[in-house]
Amino acid sequence: MGTVLLKADHIYKSFGATKAVVDFSVEIMSGEVRGFIGENGSGKSTFSSMVAGVYKRDDGTMQINGREYVPHSTVEASDNGIALVVQEAGVIAEISGACNIFLNKESRFSGKLGIDFNEMNKAAAEALKKVYSEHVDPTIPCSMLNLEDRKLIEIAKAMCDDPQLLIIDETSNALTTRGREILYKVIRDVKARGGSVLFITHDLDELVEVCDSVTIMRDGHYITTLPKEEMIIKRMRELMVGREMSDNYYRADTVKSYEEEVVLRADHLSAPEINDVSFELHKGEILGIGGLSDCGMHDLGKALFGAEKLDSGSVVLADGSHITDPKMAVEKRIGYMSKNRDTEAIILQYPIDENICIPSLARLVRNGIIRSREERELSRTWADKLSIKLRSIHSYCATLSGGNKQKVVLAKWLGNESRILIMDCPTRGIDIGVKEAIYRLMQDLKKEGVSIVMISEELAELIGMSDRIMVMKDYSISKILDRSADLTEKTVIEYMI
Ligand SMILES: Nc1ncnc2c1ncn2[C@@H]1O[C@H](COP(=O)(O)OP(=O)(O)OP(=O)(O)O)[C@@H](O)[C@H]1O
Ligand SMILES: [Mg+2]
Repeated sequence: MGTVLLKADHIYKSFGATKAVVDFSVEIMSGEVRGFIGENGSGKSTFSSMVAGVYKRDDGTMQINGREYVPHSTVEASDNGIALVVQEAGVIAEISGACNIFLNKESRFSGKLGIDFNEMNKAAAEALKKVYSEHVDPTIPCSMLNLEDRKLIEIAKAMCDDPQLLIIDETSNALTTRGREILYKVIRDVKARGGSVLFITHDLDELVEVCDSVTIMRDGHYITTLPKEEMIIKRMRELMVGREMSDNYYRADTVKSYEEEVVLRADHLSAPEINDVSFELHKGEILGIGGLSDCGMHDLGKALFGAEKLDSGSVVLADGSHITDPKMAVEKRIGYMSKNRDTEAIILQYPIDENICIPSLARLVRNGIIRSREERELSRTWADKLSIKLRSIHSYCATLSGGNKQKVVLAKWLGNESRILIMDCPTRGIDIGVKEAIYRLMQDLKKEGVSIVMISEELAELIGMSDRIMVMKDYSISKILDRSADLTEKTVIEYMI
């Protein structure tokens, strides 16, 4: 490995009373892929945002290649060879991929008649090719692209000027297996030409695959850096949470168990991306749905909540009622956690407590007035139960770290005493400690007779938690597998592809 590329010394950053990064020092070598891990809210995004010129540090120094480095903007960071792929949605949806890739760099394409968009589109296609994403159309508005293709646009944007340091913040979660492969190839390319990568992820298996070393953060502090040979998953987990952890946090039982009673029946559902899907969900059942990301399972989740227009078929509850829209679903105590957190699941510019109480408002209102004591109690209870890391329950959701936003979504639907919970990628971006808590909670809910539909791209989670796994392929059900000790990831994959 080469010389020190980034040197950060005694960095501090607070948001009001929240100390996000405290006395943090780290060195990243050129040619190194460095992992960053830590619980939700431990300061990973804050630190990387300071390196990338998004936030100013309160104190401390940074050097790039031995030179003092004080970025005042992302443009300045980019001029210094630093690019960031952010954790949340990073494209402007209304403009094209090409305009996103060359945002603030439009002058490169200015001619006599203004910006030459043909040239820009051509350059964008090149930039996409460089990151193995020729299949993405850079000329259409990003709002027409799926989550993964938007991320690929961001990766192309980050890579277009060959950064010395590429920072990837928790991106894999938005990607399918194919997208992840692309990302890993890009990382290898950066490394091969002597650049460095700072890779933030909660997926420790992925971390071990991809990184040469890992830095662990806890509560804004630097804990330690482990070289490749010391990157043992159990050890990393414990360093992150600062306590011992059990090896197996999934269900301990190995056979399916639920009541006979059918609480929801999907009857020949068809929509553009759902092809004649029928199944029954039982009381106290955890029904896993797995498949490749574009197999239709995310649309199916929406359809069960009445949020996807069906061409034919119906979603019928035990009382015979048909779910036709989300309002009705909420009244019938159905909860839905969208995979698309920032745009579909929470309102960022609303306080945490109000977000939590939205589905429960009908219950909280008396004589047209919201009972504020009940509202306070409800939001406090769930924020505590899920240990949401917050400064005040009245803070905006926008001030929460990624994983803590996900907890707000969960709190929303648990606070509503949902009897049926549709969870699309429930542990996306959630740290290992909270993951464990969510799995325990799912088992408690199951015991109470709550039925859960868990749509997931994580096979271990599907196998570990489901009573039955419904595997989808090309918009249809390809197989339903019962819980069993012999069920392997290989078997599930066979029905996916
Ligand atoms: N813009 C902001 N305003 C106020 N507080 C913030 C802001 N951004 C982050 N914080 C707080 O700073 C702390 C660190 O957050 P950060 O986003 O860096 O965590 P993280 O390690 O990236 O977590 P995650 O794994 O959930 O993404 C948290 O307590 C968070 O609530
Ligand atoms: Mg983060």
